[in-house]
Amino acid sequence: MRANAKILITGSRGMIGSALLRRLQTQPYTLLTPSHTTLDLRNQQAVNDYFATTKPDYVFHLAAIVGGIHANNTYPAKFIYDNTQMHSHVIHAAHITGVQKLLFPGSACTYPKFAEQPIPESAFLDGKIETTNIAYGAAKINGIIMCQSYAREHQLNAIIPMPTNAYGIGDNFDPQASHVIPALMKRFHEAAMNNTPEVVLWGTGTPLREFIYVDDLADALIHLMHHYNSPDIINVGTMEEISILDLARTIADVVGYRGNIEVDTTKPDGALRKCLDSTMLFKQGFRPQVKLQEGLMRMYRRHFIDVLQSR
Ligand SMILES: NC(=O)c1ccc[n+]([C@@H]2O[C@H](COP(=O)([O-])OP(=O)(O)OC[C@H]3O[C@@H](n4cnc5c(N)ncnc54)[C@H](OP(=O)(O)O)[C@@H]3O)[C@@H](O)[C@H]2O)c1
Repeated sequence: MRANAKILITGSRGMIGSALLRRLQTQPYTLLTPSHTTLDLRNQQAVNDYFATTKPDYVFHLAAIVGGIHANNTYPAKFIYDNTQMHSHVIHAAHITGVQKLLFPGSACTYPKFAEQPIPESAFLDGKIETTNIAYGAAKINGIIMCQSYAREHQLNAIIPMPTNAYGIGDNFDPQASHVIPALMKRFHEAAMNNTPEVVLWGTGTPLREFIYVDDLADALIHLMHHYNSPDIINVGTMEEISILDLARTIADVVGYRGNIEVDTTKPDGALRKCLDSTMLFKQGFRPQVKLQEGLMRMYRRHFIDVLQSR
């Protein structure tokens, strides 16, 4: 991205958008960061007018309805309707106004449920996806194909990173919507405060997961915006895996929880392994820097210690 470029970040108050904003604010760019109250991306005319008036050079489209399994199960219509509308309007407006580059994030959950591990980019559309978040996944697949179609027919310079699970400052701790790390952090924090003797995890604790700290993800997106020019999807992960039980132990350690961690093996495990093959990203010259324990400490400090101290 050239100096003084005009950059639109949709979803700039979200977890990933705000991390990106923190990074780009230190650079010589003009940043456009409308909230959903200023610009509701479900409104096509409003999106077209906004693009025509502001004429962004680069677009990071990070606005979306995002959530865990509970939210996906409860609001599948909202997930598919809002997300499909938002990206359709943004991609089309980007084409009409001739933006130099558009970034649309895919998601690891668009890969087939039984893809080979670690998951290469070539696994995309090579099998059935997980059904628990099918509305979100289907909307993402639509956005990916839309970017690739606009690239082919209209030469839109669209790039599609596929981030693994992100966590960190700005994460969502709402029990109805949160992902595994904020959910566990909240539970262990409350258990530590209340001296609860044990915390029970669902399942065996053996499934392996991969996480990326949100500032690393923001840096990866900026790196790709600078250096990657292809509508072929590209994985963005760490290739460092951890079992759910070890993750829980690490979070308990960060939080200072001294009680027992039990597993309830009568409850179901999710997929046994979910890791992206990020070899292509690493070949592009990018490597995540923040280790899990460090990222968890930063997150805990910001969302719990600072909050307690400010009371
Ligand atoms: N988090 C992850 O682990 C992960 C992994 C892979 C991919 N991704 C993708 O990365 C992107 C960002 O995720 P995130 O975790 O940062 O999400 P997030 O924290 O939930 O933020 C979503 C943002 O979307 C905006 N938004 C929602 N509805 C809108 C509307 N109708 N009009 C305009 N803006 C609207 C919200 O704006 P307001 O703040 O103004 O309400 C919010 O800032 C999403 O596309 C997500 O699918 C995330």
